Amino acid sequence: MKVLVTGGAGYIGTHCLVELMQAGIEPVVLDNLSNADPSALARVEQITGQAPIFIEGDIRDHRVLELTFQAHRPQAVLHLAGLKAVGESVEKPLEYYDNNIAGTLQLLHTMREYQCRQIVFSSSATVYGDPQTLPIPESAPIGGTTNPYGTSKYMIERILSDWAHADPQAQVIALRYFNPVGAHPSGLIGEDPKGLPNNLMPFIQKVAVGELEQLSVFGDDYDTIDGTGVRDYLHVVDLAKGHLAAIQRMLRESDTGFEAINLGTGNGISVLQMVNAFERASDQTVAYQIAPRRPGDIAACYADASCALDKLNWRAELDLTQMCQDAWRWQQFIAGK
Ligand code: NAD
Ligand code: UD1
Repeated sequence: MKVLVTGGAGYIGTHCLVELMQAGIEPVVLDNLSNADPSALARVEQITGQAPIFIEGDIRDHRVLELTFQAHRPQAVLHLAGLKAVGESVEKPLEYYDNNIAGTLQLLHTMREYQCRQIVFSSSATVYGDPQTLPIPESAPIGGTTNPYGTSKYMIERILSDWAHADPQAQVIALRYFNPVGAHPSGLIGEDPKGLPNNLMPFIQKVAVGELEQLSVFGDDYDTIDGTGVRDYLHVVDLAKGHLAAIQRMLRESDTGFEAINLGTGNGISVLQMVNAFERASDQTVAYQIAPRRPGDIAACYADASCALDKLNWRAELDLTQMCQDAWRWQQFIAGK
């Protein structure tokens, strides 16, 4: 059974490929390599012993989509392709809306043409904006987004929900990721952001390995355990297993319609707690200074993860130490490349 994985050569995509292949599902990767290196697919092959089918192409290109569906007839789609840098999305909103929204529309048109009606979409906890309740349940209001990236996720959820409403056979699951971190325990795949990392974990990794001097901790005066920002970090392997669980549920059950499901651990971790955990796991010092708050940041964000357990029988299993150990193993691998 084949599943199309758009964006499958990227950070989360490669981890999903491993889980799918190990469960006997054949992934077909469609990726334009705008933020990925094909060598990551070779390393997926090293882990799984099989090469994933790979098509280099853009989801906005109708011809490429047609050829992909014609040749492979995927039963379902994991839709991860998208641009994801928050700051860049503020500078280039049209590029973000074009890539993320126009790309999704092309994909849905082609799916309809080929009667493929099952899709799992990479959404984000960013759709909740500044949450009113913690932990955040799926029923919390969405749409209070503060940047084009977040707004594109919100708009795609609306499009998918309307599509599912109009087609009684459509099955859509929007997975709202909290903060994916870490890497595959093999140390062969992970995230390797170009330039200065925007996100906490890759920044800490580069300080620990000596590529960056020190971390700026954005704010120590939030109403949190130690004043620094609190987030729900989850291991990328757990996240990938959540995708497998979503696909398997779709294949097993005929529940139709649109569902949004949080993927998080349910635990809030502060910036300083993360720094300490990383220092312990890597046996390195992570130098840091307290800096002003980052504009647009919120104090705390963590999931009510009960719906994923209920509906997907999924819960995060890997703890903070494993996230840090695996991130560190991967960081050493890329530093030595
Ligand atoms: P990534 O950049 O590593 O992966 C995205 C992949 O999509 C890349 O390989 C890129 O080359 C490809 N791509 C982008 N536009 C494309 C297009 N038009 N056609 C074909 N391929 C295209 O990012 P990731 O961290 O693996 O994220 C995967 C998805 O999960 C994204 O949609 C992202 O918005 C979402 N998400 C990520 C996070 C996170 O923290 N990493 C959090 C929430 C949601
Ligand atoms: C970021 C994105 C969000 C996306 C999420 C996915 C921004 C503004 N938001 O969220 O849209 O869905 O990633 O994982 O980019 N921090 C520091 N120093 C740093 C970097 C971060 O102190 O150098 C702090 C932040 O202030 C925050 C925490 O670390 O409290 C986590 O930050 P980050 O990893 O960027 O994730 P989010 O802000 O949750």
